[in-house]
Amino acid sequence: MSSSSKPSLFVPDPATLRKSRVPDYDGLYAASVADPESFWGNLAKDLHFTKVPSRILDWNPKTFQGRWLPDAEGNICDNALDRHVREGFANKAALIWAGDRGEEEIYTYGRLLDQTVRFAHVLKSLGVGKGDRVSIFLPPTPAQVIAMLACARLGAIHSVVFSGFSASALRSRLEDFEPRVLVTAECGYRRGKRIPLLETARTARKGLSSIATTLIVPREETSLSLEPGERVLPDLLKEVRFSGSLPPVPVSCDDPLFVLYTSGTTGKPKGVVHVQLGYMLGTYATSRMIFDLRDSDVYFCVADPGWITGHSYIVYGPLLNRATVLLSEGTPEYPDAGRHWSLIERHRVSVYYSTPTTIRLQMRFGETWPAGRDLSSLRILGSVGEPLNPEAWHWFHRVTGGHLPIMDTWWQTETGMIMVTPLPSTPEKPGSAGRPFPGVVADIVDATGKSVAPGETGTVVIRTPWPSMFRTVFRDPDRYRKYWTEIPGVFFSGDSARKDEDGYFFFLGRVDDVIKVAGHRLGTAEIESALITHPKIAEAAAIGKPDELRGEIIKVFVVLHPHATLAPPPHDEIRTHVRSELGGIAEPHEVEIVISLPKTRSGKIMRRVLKARELGLPEGDLSTLED
Ligand code: PRX
Repeated sequence: MSSSSKPSLFVPDPATLRKSRVPDYDGLYAASVADPESFWGNLAKDLHFTKVPSRILDWNPKTFQGRWLPDAEGNICDNALDRHVREGFANKAALIWAGDRGEEEIYTYGRLLDQTVRFAHVLKSLGVGKGDRVSIFLPPTPAQVIAMLACARLGAIHSVVFSGFSASALRSRLEDFEPRVLVTAECGYRRGKRIPLLETARTARKGLSSIATTLIVPREETSLSLEPGERVLPDLLKEVRFSGSLPPVPVSCDDPLFVLYTSGTTGKPKGVVHVQLGYMLGTYATSRMIFDLRDSDVYFCVADPGWITGHSYIVYGPLLNRATVLLSEGTPEYPDAGRHWSLIERHRVSVYYSTPTTIRLQMRFGETWPAGRDLSSLRILGSVGEPLNPEAWHWFHRVTGGHLPIMDTWWQTETGMIMVTPLPSTPEKPGSAGRPFPGVVADIVDATGKSVAPGETGTVVIRTPWPSMFRTVFRDPDRYRKYWTEIPGVFFSGDSARKDEDGYFFFLGRVDDVIKVAGHRLGTAEIESALITHPKIAEAAAIGKPDELRGEIIKVFVVLHPHATLAPPPHDEIRTHVRSELGGIAEPHEVEIVISLPKTRSGKIMRRVLKARELGLPEGDLSTLED
């Protein structure tokens, strides 16, 4: 996965440039940062507000609170659904669902709105109103999208938990979020295998008194035997009287839309809080300008709505732009390695937003899979989650026809929207995520906050507020402050990168104890906390190790309690334990039993030393090493 080869330049063809919404990036960028309020304010004019904003931003540099559209009122569900129906697009396809078992469902904007209103009625009948919290533990299905939009419509706050998480990972999120309602499904499917979500949800919610109701979305024909506090969606849909419409509840700039948990440097995941109006503006604008979404587009993003990519670029951004969204359940290799290519051919997908790990997996399967399909509908490609290495860039480019722009988009759960990216009209350098999105002041700095020179490596920071910036960390305002005080006054991303002479960013990875496995974000401390709940494990350390396919894999070092022995094969016991604590994405790929771990004199595990040894690199300054 070497990225040392000198990047070539890919220049968009004249036809793309002619049709572009951003024919002059440099001019627009300069204007947008000189007067960000005009730039964002003009984009806000495309959206519908029950109270039209007269101001764009209140920024408090002391508390780092950016209040976007501070005097406006509106609703993101109104903008994602009702607005399009009002404008005559009720019969346009909004959502195409491709299930893991070959199911296919199509929702027009009219039908999606109708289902969302019904779901909102059901939530309302369960006592959910503005500001109330709802956890959503569903597989990537239309119900997941509808549940999110229904919460938004009511002004309620959703917290979607990825359906691959284990019961204890779900539980720790429910404990922190304390939802009134937990929405789950009877089951999901992945590679043809049934995923028993209801059982996981039942284990996770035991004894959590905040949850008044568990709302279950059925999947199979079988009748469910219910536990106390459980209701099945179709029953409630029958019971609830749909008298009158249920108009979207107008919310203001401070009202949260969702809390999404993500990994950081401590053992406990943090609840990143996003507010409706600013998030709406940021995801609308970026989807429009980066993916150039138009009425004729069929847009396919390979993420799961359970992650931020799915929130911003499956559900909200594309629907705000009235695109047709393809939502696929399952994996790129099931039922065969041509899964995505055949979906693209079948549904005439025009914008395909993928991930480096997916692309590298497809590379392994070989070119005959894409070559066997008609991919002529494609016009824009994308990638997110980890660096897209030049080899994968070139392969992706070649097998899709050799002429399509690739948006290698850099952003985070916290940023809510894409921050650094090419645009369809800008030249691209394979291996680079391009330059900052208009209105975004991204920089690369040293430890004191000073910009580094081109070619030098530093930390990525954002210098000024952006519309879909997170507002706080749920129940942990100190953790929010830390993002802005690590380097005083700027947002600290935790990523390292370098820029070239043309201002193109090359992202290199995290500078903290966060690792990226197949684009999934995991904290080493989180994995270690899970390991030491195993009765035989005394101490543990986790590191990320470079991997050709997944970017990084998890390697763990464990010290057993004296006299403890593991049942053969010994590593399986440890891996299974982490899997059941955190879920499959956190399962260690490599396990090593050691006698002791390198520590500082104050007892902190020196993961840096373990990593250097593992990779055969210089171990650096060892003066603080205990032994
Ligand atoms: O390290 C960066 C990496 O993903 C991190 C954010 O992870 P998460 O909050 O889970 O959101 C992922 C989807 C937005 C970043 O700190 N990352 C994301 N996109 C890229 C990337 N690294 C390199 N290039 C990218 N395009």
